Amino acid sequence: FMRRHGIPTAPHHAFADLEAARRYLATQPAPYVIKADGLAAGKGVLICATREEAEQGLRAMLVDKAFGASGEQVVIEGFLRGEEASYFAICDGTDFVPCPAAQDHKPLGDLDRGPNTGGMGAYCPAPLVTPAVERRVIERIVRPTLAGMAAEGHPFQGVLYVGLMIDDADVPHVVEYNCRFGDPECQPLLMLLASDLAELLEAAADGQVSRVQPRWRTGAAACIVMASGGYPGPCEQGFPIHGLEALPDSPDCRVFHAGTARRNGDWVNHGGRVLGVTAWGADLGAALAAGYRLVSRVGWQGAIYRKDIGLKGLKRDPGGRPATNVAL
Ligand code: GLY
Repeated sequence: FMRRHGIPTAPHHAFADLEAARRYLATQPAPYVIKADGLAAGKGVLICATREEAEQGLRAMLVDKAFGASGEQVVIEGFLRGEEASYFAICDGTDFVPCPAAQDHKPLGDLDRGPNTGGMGAYCPAPLVTPAVERRVIERIVRPTLAGMAAEGHPFQGVLYVGLMIDDADVPHVVEYNCRFGDPECQPLLMLLASDLAELLEAAADGQVSRVQPRWRTGAAACIVMASGGYPGPCEQGFPIHGLEALPDSPDCRVFHAGTARRNGDWVNHGGRVLGVTAWGADLGAALAAGYRLVSRVGWQGAIYRKDIGLKGLKRDPGGRPATNVAL
């Protein structure tokens, strides 16, 4: 789709045959990105530093069927360098309303170390997406995507999530599309929405999204994900979560339940990502300080969370200031 419509993404090719895939690999520079073509619960992407590693990955998917039917076809992509951002547009088939850009933190550990996860935290707006970058995202990606979908007989109505890689020259490329909000990007994004979400979605469903101009709060919001010990592998579950009842309930700080359950009157952790601790502040530093203050009041045995959510944003945003208890 992106090739047909001239939408910038990594160079790529799909293969079902190991030998053909190996021959293509030999013509491409390292590092390599190998993706199972089907859905693999976020785990079907390998970043390979060498050709040997990439060939092992290809063999695991195409011959050993490590990802089952999802890996019967693989996509070999060029490696995009830069910083990632998540861009959301509420679309009505031809037109759209843009949302402030967010940034997720996919690796498990501080400073982007460790295995990839569904997302360990997010903040919004992301200073990486300057007005100039946003104009490029809209003109080179969002508009051609909507026009291409309509031209091919599938006008897109709903939330378009464009996963972006923005390179050093501020040029955005598409890493992925999703037809939904992001988790955890949705939490800080919607904390900034000051008008009615339902009205906006209804207008999109009616094909008249420009009828509604959403109002966004000033300042910033941040979400710190608290996860179970062991995540993203098998998790230790069933431990009572302390501190939830004593938290303030306000539009400026919300703890979203993702993987919890009620047991004998207690909340317990029940899943990988358990809580999305989300706070608003007058700037990113204030939002992070408020979010980490909430995190310090909640916990359970084995709980883990990143201590550097928003750090990249703070480094870029001259108005931001380090949150007092962001360890890094
Ligand atoms: N946070 C990444 C996603 O929602 O896909």
